[in-house]
Parts: sequence; C-alpha cells; structure tokens
Amino acid sequence: MDNIEALFKPESIAIVGASRTPGKIGHEIVRNLVEYGYRGKIYPVNPYANEILGLKAYPSVSSIPGKVDMVVVVVPADKVPSVIEDAGRKGVKVAVVISSGFKEVGREDLEEEVVRIARKHGMRVLGPNIFGILYTPLRINATFGPTHAIPGSVGFITQSGALGIALMGMTIVEKIGVSAIVSIGNKADIDDADLLNYLREDANTKVVLIYLEGVMDGRRFMEAAQNFTLRKPLIVIKAGKTQAGAKAVASHTGSLAGNVAIYSTLFKETGILEASTVEEAFDWARAFSYLPSYKGGKLIIVTNGGGAGVLATDVLAENNINLEEPPQSLRDKLRPKLPGFASLKNPIDVTGMISNEGYVDAVIETLKNESVGAVLALYCETAVTDPEVIAKELIERIESELGGLQKPLIVALIGGQKSYNAVATLNAKGIPTYPMPERAASATAALITYSKLRESVKLRIDELRGITNA
Ligand code: COA
Repeated sequence: MDNIEALFKPESIAIVGASRTPGKIGHEIVRNLVEYGYRGKIYPVNPYANEILGLKAYPSVSSIPGKVDMVVVVVPADKVPSVIEDAGRKGVKVAVVISSGFKEVGREDLEEEVVRIARKHGMRVLGPNIFGILYTPLRINATFGPTHAIPGSVGFITQSGALGIALMGMTIVEKIGVSAIVSIGNKADIDDADLLNYLREDANTKVVLIYLEGVMDGRRFMEAAQNFTLRKPLIVIKAGKTQAGAKAVASHTGSLAGNVAIYSTLFKETGILEASTVEEAFDWARAFSYLPSYKGGKLIIVTNGGGAGVLATDVLAENNINLEEPPQSLRDKLRPKLPGFASLKNPIDVTGMISNEGYVDAVIETLKNESVGAVLALYCETAVTDPEVIAKELIERIESELGGLQKPLIVALIGGQKSYNAVATLNAKGIPTYPMPERAASATAALITYSKLRESVKLRIDELRGITNA
C-alpha cells in the first residue's frame, strides 16, 4: 500500500489529541470513526487518559503495540512537530493534521518543519488546517463533521474547512451520495494532484468536485486534471475571483488566488467544468454520479409548460448547446397521442392539459428513440396532474420498459409541496431531478459539455503525439 492509498484505506488509525471531553474536536473524531462503523483498529492517543469511548488510550503513537497506517493529529500547532517525529519513527504512512496555526497565520516555518520531519520518515501529510477525511466504502469518518454521510460516487475535495463541513451536511439533506470528502487546507504536502491521481483509479468514485482557492504548482495540477478528465468528469468551483476575494483567500489558506482569466482558460483546456456557484457544482455532481455518460445523439426537451421550455432553452444556448428538431420517427409516434395544439418542435410541448399518463408516455417514447441521446423532462404542477404519481410511473416504466436508464434523463418538477416530494422520490431512485428548470438545464449542459471537452482534450493529445512522433 503506498502512502496516498493509506489515506483512503488505512488498516489502523491513531488519533493523537483524542480528548476525554465530548464536544472537543479530538473527541468527536474518535466518536465519528466509531459510530460510522470503521472496521480497522482505532487507537486514541492522549498521555492523560486511560480510555476514550471504551477504547484503550495510549500515551504516544510509538507506545501502540500494533502497526499504525494513519495518524490524525489534533493537538495545538506547536506540539505537532514532535507528534510527527514520533509517528514517523513508528512507520506511520500518512498524517492527517487537523490543527490550525500554520501558514494561514504566518507560521510557514512551523509548517515547513512538519513536512521536513514527515519526509525524513517517508510519511505524507494531509493539511494542516483541515477537518479531516471521509471515505465511505471503508466507513472511515475521520472528520469532525456530521457522522452519517451517504455512500455514493461523488468525490469532494475542499480547500475550505468550515464550508466543507457545512456542505458535507448538505449532501446528507440533499441525498447526494459521496465516496470521499477530503479537507485539503494548506496543502503543505498532499495536494489536489495527488488526490486526483488516486481518485481517477478509484472504482468507487465516478465524478470529483473541488472547491479550489488556489494551486501552488499550476503545471502539476493541470497535468493531473487532464489525466483525470480523460476518464471521469471534474467539476471545480474556483473561489477568489475578484480582487477582494483573492485577498480573502490569502488570509484563509495562505494560497495565491491567481489570475481568474488564466484559470478559466486552463480549466477548459484540461477538460474541467467550472461551476460558478456551490449549488451548481453539486447539481452537476448529482447528475454525473447518477447517470450513464452522454454518448452523442439529439438532446430533446419534453415539457408540459412552454415557459419552462424557453428558460431551459436559454440556459442551453448560453452553454453553446443548440436544440435540433426531434426525429421524424418520434414525432410520428407522439402525434396521435397528444392534443392537436401540442408542439412537436424541440422543446416538445405536450401542453398543460396532458394527463399524468400522457406526460410519462411522452418522456418514455422520447427516451426509447434511437436518435435521441439525452432527454430533459420539464414538468409544471397543474390541477390535472399529480407530480407524485408522475414520479412513481416514470420510475416504474423506466425499469420495466427500458431496464433502467441507458442514456441521460434529467428532470425538473416545478410546483408546490407535492412537486418537492416527487423531486426527492426521483433523486432517491437515481434520476437527477431539480425544482427549477434552469438548474436541470444547467446539469444537462454540464453532461454534454463534458463529453465535448473530453473529445477536444483527446484530440489535442493525439495531435501533440503526432507532432512529437513526426
Ligand atoms: N499527545 C496526545 N494528546 C495530547 C498531547 C500529546 N502530546 N498533549 C495534549 N494532549 C491532549 C490534551 O490533554 C487534550 O485532551 P483532554 O481534553 O482529554 O485533556 C487533547 O490532547 C487536545 O489538546 P488540547 O490542548 O485540549 O487542545 P484543543 O482540543 O483545545 O485544541 C486543536 C486542539 C488542534 C483542536 C486546536 O489547536 C486547533 O488547531 N483548532 C482549530 C482546528 C481547525 O479549525 N482546523 C481546521 C478545520 S477546517
């Protein structure tokens, strides 16, 4: 097992600074590890304690009898170097340093000392100034965030701690399943590139989302990102875009926010999807994590409300996605089933008088058509339909007639309480569904844009190879 792998798959974890007092960070991390169900060995380390949460406590890492793969360090900053030295001597592979009080407050010297000691022992360091790491496949919750993260396939790397913890809570409420959440903080040693290289190969991760303030080594980051996007989608929220924001970044994690335009251009060139808000980033991550990838073919909008169709069309056009006419075979199929005044252009407007069954039927027929590559289904709650019935029938017919989704389907259900309930029902069944048409359209655009970016990255690499070989 290499050191980065030890971060995700440690067989034993020591928590140095495991506190006896509930509510203190060092106590809550031990509790999260125990309560989330980590099966490896957990060793609390605290020279003043005999046991913590029923686990035997040790005075130091070196006094632990068995091997230790990972240490989580939760002692005040000035004590961290000696803890790292002790852990290094013990042969620990990776240290997760929660403590603040390093580069972000001008103590570069202390941060460098920690890394120097770790390197001397061949140990890697995550952090400092972080809330920890979560890896759901092995039930590792070495964080002081919420306990019960939902397992899934979104990997989330965050340079911000408190915001990261809050978003961890949000994924639980929004039922967004995660494979990993990694707080990366000051990035004294392990950086985004290390994590991307690992998660690219991780079978449990389908898409990665990074909250990024800045990178130290741009070339290294872009290379790792490009290799990553050739295989899986990568969504980045770049914070610190304004001058005032960049100043805030400097005092937060001590990073340089860099030039916004340069970042955006490089992101595109390496196939990264840049989200402008946290909501957008998680909306996209949800779609990528649930759906099969878009493999070309027409994108068709099916809607029972003209306005919703127009709003979605605008969002798609802003993302350079233009809608083509539906295939004739689909129009022939739908025409006899729809009111005479229904529009069979794209968006297909099945009108507000459509029944539950009629709406679901139109979506299913569109999904079945061979020339269709993706479907965006928009629904406005009316008195003649029931969104909860629509959600239920859609789920049943996708299962019975299509054997599950073979191509992307993104849904927006716009309306009152029943629509909100139905949004949750569809999401729970792996059909990405949003309460607003623009959000669904934006997620659709992200799926299609990723497939385009990926193709252009591939093409560029092939061209470069051609030049090099010529
Ligand atoms: N080895 C192991 N345990 C030690 C120790 C050592 N060398 N020295 C002290 N301890 C014990 C303490 O006795 C205490 O246990 P107790 O509560 O049972 O007495 C525990 O380790 C923690 O030490 P304490 O001095 O009480 O520190 P603290 O809990 O008040 O603060 C940090 C420690 C790391 C949480 C704090 O310094 C810090 O950095 N906080 C910010 C963390 C943060 O926000 N990170 C970024 C998140 S986004």
